[in-house]
Amino acid sequence: MDLYEYQAKEMFADHGVATQVGVVVTSPKAARDAAEQIGGTVVVKAQVKTGGRGKAGGVKLASDPADAEAKAEGILGLDIKGHIVNKVLVVPASDIAEEYYVSYLVDRANRSFLAMASVEGGVDIEEVAATNPEALAKVAIDPLTGVDRAKAEEIVAQANFPAEIADDVAAMLVDLWDVFVGEDATLVEVNPLVQTPTGEVLALDGKVTLDGNADFRHPAHAELADEQAEDPLELRAAAKGLNYVKLSGEVGIIGNGAGLVMSTLDVVAYAGEEFGGVKPANFLDIGGGASAEVMADGLEIILGDPEVKAVFVNVFGGITACDAVAAGIIQAFAILADRGETPDKPLVVRLDGNNADVGRKILVEAEHDLIEMVETMDDAARRVAELAAQGA
Ligand SMILES: Nc1ncnc2c1ncn2[C@@H]1O[C@H](COP(=O)(O)OP(=O)(O)O)[C@@H](O)[C@H]1O
Ligand SMILES: [Mg+2]
Repeated sequence: MDLYEYQAKEMFADHGVATQVGVVVTSPKAARDAAEQIGGTVVVKAQVKTGGRGKAGGVKLASDPADAEAKAEGILGLDIKGHIVNKVLVVPASDIAEEYYVSYLVDRANRSFLAMASVEGGVDIEEVAATNPEALAKVAIDPLTGVDRAKAEEIVAQANFPAEIADDVAAMLVDLWDVFVGEDATLVEVNPLVQTPTGEVLALDGKVTLDGNADFRHPAHAELADEQAEDPLELRAAAKGLNYVKLSGEVGIIGNGAGLVMSTLDVVAYAGEEFGGVKPANFLDIGGGASAEVMADGLEIILGDPEVKAVFVNVFGGITACDAVAAGIIQAFAILADRGETPDKPLVVRLDGNNADVGRKILVEAEHDLIEMVETMDDAARRVAELAAQGA
């Protein structure tokens, strides 16, 4: 789960990281009151779970409470990369002498953790990483020893932080590591970490991703969830107990087994290149022993995605044999009809494995207008990409 900036910074403060937490509000009037309470110049910041808010006009200085109200008015309701702003954070404006970057993340390739730091922080860090990678220090973190003072000093030295703030940055790096491990995060990022003209060091922005697998250790994290910010299809799928991840594409995917579904995404993306860059619309694993009910639930979610133009059902029969899956697909259409949903998007089905012949026969005999059978996974991927391109 990604946290909002204000949640990340509240977490930072709990772990001793120097930051400004500010006040979160949902109306311009409340922003005015918050600015009044804080006093002086404030910054009004869009709270959405995406970066680049500054560049998108979601971070504005306000010189007084009336201005804060006006700025909040302009920011609330903004669409920032598909995220609608429902809340803004009002924080004291900081004088900024320099902007830096630090982060901790899971380094999957090396089965370890990684610290990244740069003295060229601020809104263009992606650009720095792309065009001037030497300016971004990368320091491997041993998971067993973590970031102690010595490791923090190594990161500070590699990134060339100015001597006068080296101690404070090292101290902050130790506290941020405490956030990373103590909260079971997979990402902790501060951009910008700033130096003020008086030499103070502050985390002005914060990004934290929590590892959902560790939720059982953190009952308090449940309160950080914000249903409003979740993808509505993912919410519906989660409510039905489905393993569904929304992606951005036109081909709905249903398969059984995570490995098969992952490779289905790959073959569809590959096949889609030939048809103007058609892409998979989702990951959906209905599991090994999927019933007709689960197939219907899966289809309902996928057909509810307005981006989807065609659906690929890719099943390898195992414990649940292909004939049961085929019957399940037919039944799923009946269940959907009962629910008042009329599927109108083509379905390409590939069945293989246990009782594949019987399963295919069932589908052929059903003579369903929307269902088309293709024997191999590659051919099916090609066909569904073609159908999706036609429907787009
Ligand atoms: N409290 C603040 N005081 C002064 N300037 C700020 C403050 N918060 C953010 N800024 C400025 O706005 C820029 C963008 O804000 P940030 O929180 O990093 O959002 P994003 O990374 O989404 O663009 C920062 O790099 C900084 O220059
Ligand atoms: Mg930032």
